[in-house]
Amino acid sequence: DALLAEVSSFNAAEKEEIEKFRIRFSGKKGILNELFDQFKQVPNDQKKDFGQKINTLKQAVAAKLETLKNASAVAEVTEKGDLTKPGFPLTLGSRHPISLVKNRITEIFKSIGFAVADGPEIEDDWHNFSALNLPEYHPARDMQDTFFIEKNPDVLLRTHTSSVQIRYLENNEPPIRILSPGRVFRNEAISARSHCIFHQIEGLYIDENVSFADLKQTIQYFTTELFGKSKIRMRPSYFPFTEPSAEVDVYWGLNSETDYRITKGTGWLEIMGCGMVDPAVLQNVNIDADKYSGYAFGMGIERIVMLLYQMNDIRMFFDNDVRMLEQFKTS
Ligand code: PHE
Repeated sequence: DALLAEVSSFNAAEKEEIEKFRIRFSGKKGILNELFDQFKQVPNDQKKDFGQKINTLKQAVAAKLETLKNASAVAEVTEKGDLTKPGFPLTLGSRHPISLVKNRITEIFKSIGFAVADGPEIEDDWHNFSALNLPEYHPARDMQDTFFIEKNPDVLLRTHTSSVQIRYLENNEPPIRILSPGRVFRNEAISARSHCIFHQIEGLYIDENVSFADLKQTIQYFTTELFGKSKIRMRPSYFPFTEPSAEVDVYWGLNSETDYRITKGTGWLEIMGCGMVDPAVLQNVNIDADKYSGYAFGMGIERIVMLLYQMNDIRMFFDNDVRMLEQFKTS
């Protein structure tokens, strides 16, 4: 009975101690064998009782060894790491919100016949400024602070994707209906509201008899597709390459789902610039300005993303913080 108590109260985590315990009880010269030897000398009338006790003890020792060995194996694995586990979980990336929204906007305009045009990020003066009715010394050049790579002749980082439209106009005949998404650069201080790198999508439509009414209908169609039922207004504005020019505002009202919106309260929010292509631009690219007219529009993608997803700091787009990016995972 005393031995049985000893067995059941024994506990050890170290392999060596467990082994010592095993030798003491079930080793060749261990307690159990010794007891079996004694068993032969036990008088017959006590044999049954004695035998049962030895068997109980034997089973207890076996059970104890089993539990201790398992426990120590588990402890070892936790210490060294489980080698049977599957490899590192490889997390899948997600599309950047800028790409998601750029694709969405492109889809909307593709559905009404716009094609996508591409152009270089490093530009010359002609395509970024002069051809767009912004000759040298034009005060409106200051509207877009420029990163210059070389001076005389000027090589620069494009300040807008209107440069792509000039390239396209130089090489194609009307009717022209293109969209130019891409990265643009401006020498501006970085803050929550502005960045020196951002993305634009510009649109251009040149054909016979294109009017301001066509422009307005197209923009209305676009905002309805992107934001849902929406109210827009156009304010007179100025761009050297369009005449007349306008700024488009969309009415951002409160509704039950979004009344926590971060974007300053409600009201009219500016989303893009637009206007009728200035005849001087068409002449610069040898298109007959008496025969053809057209409209153009341009918007910053970051601004639209921030509106759609209630984001309040433009710098988040370039931080590459996975906590932000993961929220745009789609299944
Ligand atoms: N290029 C203008 C800008 O970057 C936007 C614009 C495009 C305005 C087309 C009117 C027409 O500010």
